[in-house]
Amino acid sequence: MLKNKKIGFIGWRGMVGSVLLERMISKKEFKNFFPIFFSTSQHGKYFSILEQNKLIENAFDINKLKKLDIIVTCQGSKYTNYIHPQLRQLGWSGYWIDTASSLRMRKDSLIVLDPINKISINHALSNGIKNFIVANCTVCLMLMTLNGLFKKNLIDHISMTTYQAASGAGSNNLFELFIQIKELYSVIKKELNINIKKNILSIEKKINKFMRSSKITKKAFGEPLIGSLIPWIGKKMPQNQTYEEWKCHVELNKILNRTGTKNNPFISINSICVRVATFRCHSQSFFIKLNKNISINKIKELLLLDNNWVKIIPNNSKDTIQKLTPTAVSGKLIIHVGRLRKFKIKNENYLSVFSVGDQILWGSVEPLRRMLRILYLKQ
Ligand code: HSE
Repeated sequence: MLKNKKIGFIGWRGMVGSVLLERMISKKEFKNFFPIFFSTSQHGKYFSILEQNKLIENAFDINKLKKLDIIVTCQGSKYTNYIHPQLRQLGWSGYWIDTASSLRMRKDSLIVLDPINKISINHALSNGIKNFIVANCTVCLMLMTLNGLFKKNLIDHISMTTYQAASGAGSNNLFELFIQIKELYSVIKKELNINIKKNILSIEKKINKFMRSSKITKKAFGEPLIGSLIPWIGKKMPQNQTYEEWKCHVELNKILNRTGTKNNPFISINSICVRVATFRCHSQSFFIKLNKNISINKIKELLLLDNNWVKIIPNNSKDTIQKLTPTAVSGKLIIHVGRLRKFKIKNENYLSVFSVGDQILWGSVEPLRRMLRILYLKQ
């Protein structure tokens, strides 16, 4: 146990960080080590946590940071890019656990999602790896959904479309979506009187005119998300992919230890990642080319056996409409997996799957919290 070890938390006031703290407090995890809370903007102030008044330390104070045994950060890539190299150059040899993407693909980092790669995590720890980085949320959720099939080498390749929640872009973006909801309502609130006979298309026209105007708030997304969608997430990458789409392929293959050689080829993940007006849940629709013909019941069994968080939703209208939705899954650890259907194209075996998972929980907080737990239980 790391009872006397000092663990620094950075970015704990943000959306992901505050869910992390909430989960750790509810599981009484802070009793296992000595937590120190840092901030890039609120240092010097006090805040109340675990029935104590704690001083907030400066997240840019390298001398304080280098005394820590473990740093847990949800602060984002800019902070990681600035602080991590300085600390390592000073010879700091503590563990760095991070949700940001910056270090994920480095040789001296392991991407962590312990229900899937606990063996690699143990191996990395014995080999002196000190950077443990949570996978991108779409990758975490894809693996939590499909690992039963990856593990048995049943997947040849995947074509995927994502439906990603506003919160994945950050708390300002989620707030902007709420503001857009308010603004749209105020534009048509008179028309929404149920006692007045309405012309539906004139309401739609009024809304659309407002959405295309400069009056709607769109600073964070650049365009309205409410009543619309944005099929581009992140910067542009080679082959006309977005950063989000690129991550799906490269991070998944890194986690599965696929090296792209003849004997260990990459599993090709081609995706279109789309931002939609949901709040916490990312949904994903997968078209999977299977390596062999296997029954749908066996597929369900493999998905369920892989981890404790998959719930299969029967492929019928009632269950799908009620349960295979962001509304049903939001705030829960369980991942709903449905629309399972096998089909053939040119005599090859394909499977369609739709899954919904909370991107704050399994897409970020849970892998981070569990990695920290592995560290303090191990030492
Ligand atoms: N990259 C993800 C998104 C966030 O943009 O939705 C993952 O937490």
